[in-house]
Amino acid sequence: MTVSVAPSVATGSLLSQPRLEITGGLPLAGDIRVSGAKNSALVLMAACLLTRDTLRLRNVPPLTDITAMSEILAALGVRVQRGGDTIDLDGDQITQAAPPYELVNSLRASFFCIGPLLARMGMAQVPLPGGCQIGTRPVVEHVKGLKALGAQVTIEHGVVTAVVPGRSHRLTGGHIHLDCPSVGATETLMMAAALADGETTIDNAAQEPEVIDLARLLIAMGAKIRGAGSPTITIIGVERLHGADYAVIPDRIEAGTFLLAGAITRSLLRVAPVIPEHLGAVLTKLEEAGCTFEFDDSGVTINARQIKAVDLRTQPFPGFPTDLQAPFMSLLATATGTSMIVENIFENRLQHVAELQRMGASIRMQGNTAFIEGVAQLSGAPVQGTDLRASAAMVLAGLAANGTTTVRGLEFLDRGYADLEGKLNAVGADIRRLYEEPGAKMN
Ligand code: EPZ
Repeated sequence: MTVSVAPSVATGSLLSQPRLEITGGLPLAGDIRVSGAKNSALVLMAACLLTRDTLRLRNVPPLTDITAMSEILAALGVRVQRGGDTIDLDGDQITQAAPPYELVNSLRASFFCIGPLLARMGMAQVPLPGGCQIGTRPVVEHVKGLKALGAQVTIEHGVVTAVVPGRSHRLTGGHIHLDCPSVGATETLMMAAALADGETTIDNAAQEPEVIDLARLLIAMGAKIRGAGSPTITIIGVERLHGADYAVIPDRIEAGTFLLAGAITRSLLRVAPVIPEHLGAVLTKLEEAGCTFEFDDSGVTINARQIKAVDLRTQPFPGFPTDLQAPFMSLLATATGTSMIVENIFENRLQHVAELQRMGASIRMQGNTAFIEGVAQLSGAPVQGTDLRASAAMVLAGLAANGTTTVRGLEFLDRGYADLEGKLNAVGADIRRLYEEPGAKMN
């Protein structure tokens, strides 16, 4: 027997295997709202450890990852108060510098705590963030950079221990060159350097909008940072940072996902708020595929009639974002012609190909490259999301498919998309979140 209840009612412990049931083939129309950026909010939350004052963050998305980060910070002694999309973080009483393993293991972004804890406490002990479905996710650049700032860092039994030697326990500014423009490493090192003694430069820094958002927050807290958004960031350390009241940028990956929902259903759909320069590469590729856009003061309307094949390669910002590779592949599975997608960022981020093939997509793999021959019609099928963005890609494919698609893997989806089905249903989709009674026959 299948029970259909609102997600707020069901609890994971009582009902298992939640899934989305999508009736495909419906056009979308209207306005779809973009929440605050998950990949900014998580690191901005960690910045609360850098000050004894209260940090107020607005436009924080209601996601399970945000809840997990709140629990990790609370375990360190931070007082966390959430009200709607606002969260107050009071790091006055940090009681320990070692977030508990069982919490850290559930959220890779918890590794963002190591930089601020080290800068604030002179030591930090954070479990090595595990790999995940898309790759091994190393933290070599983070560790190398912390050592360049004077920390002694050891990794034993899966735990990273960082200590600042000497009486002051204060990091010392230095020169850091990243072998790869790691987003997380750039953010970790910016936070650590903000309170260091002296000047730090980070070369080959990541240029993602979330890096700029963090720099803007730190500057609002009293930090001295120049060059965020360029390959070289300079930080002049200060003695202390104060609190701030700061709004998180809109989520460019959620916005891109919604633009792709408009494109795959060949609809006219307005997505807002959107900061166009955060989506340059994505808008360019969608235009190349045949979409047109109208920009207004806060959002963008996509108009999609015919979709043509395009080639894309994922790259660090400002290149095409790896987080939209899977959702874009769903679109190209329905395009006219043969497309090529090269995934250059993560070593295992093409698992959604097999799931799209179950829906009738014609895709040939060659290493990190997928050749997608568009088909006239995908067919609805039971599919599994294998990571956060692959789950979103399956929802998009379900919107366009003939018949019903059921998408499992919502534990991934809910990490990065707040009420995805509610937002899509409000513009014409037909998506139901269903739960099976324990022990029910899986169909
Ligand atoms: C951030 O992860 C995002 N997560 C990811 O979003 C995003 O896909 C990624 O940046 C790339 O844009 C958050 O911001 C919380 P990286 P991060 O360090 O910081 C290699 C999503 O779906 N690398 O820039 O972990 C690494 O293996 C998630 O929202 C090293 O080799 O990404 C990867 O191949 C998924 N050594 C590449 O760099 C290192 O020391 C990019 O990783 C660090 C990274």
